[in-house]
Amino acid sequence: MAVEKPSLFVCMGSACHQRGVYDVVPKLRELIAKHRLDASITLKGSFCLGPCTEGIVIQYGEYQATGVGAHNIEEVFFAELLPLIEADEATRRKMREDISAEEAGHGG
Ligand code: FES
Repeated sequence: MAVEKPSLFVCMGSACHQRGVYDVVPKLRELIAKHRLDASITLKGSFCLGPCTEGIVIQYGEYQATGVGAHNIEEVFFAELLPLIEADEATRRKMREDISAEEAGHGG
C-alpha cells in the first residue's frame, strides 16, 4: 500500500498572480530541491485559495500562509513550512514502516 505525499499549493488566482506569485514559485522550487523534499511533497498550483485581499497565499494541509512574496518566502519556509513538512514526513515514514511490518507479518 502506498502512502501518498501531501501537496503544497500555491495560489495562481488572479489576485495572487498580480502580486507576483510567479516570483515565489521558483524560490519555493529551489527551497524544496535544496532540502531534498521532492519525495516528501508535491508543489502544485491552485485556483483561488480564498483570502485574496491578504496577499499571495500558500497552503499545506490545514496550514495557510498569506502575504507571502519573494521577499519573505524563505522566512515562511524555514519558520513554518519546513517543520510541518518534516513532521508529516516522520509520520509517513512510521506509517510505511508499520505497513511493511504488517505485510511481512502476513507473509509479504
Ligand atoms: S487569488 Fe489567491 S487567494 Fe484568491
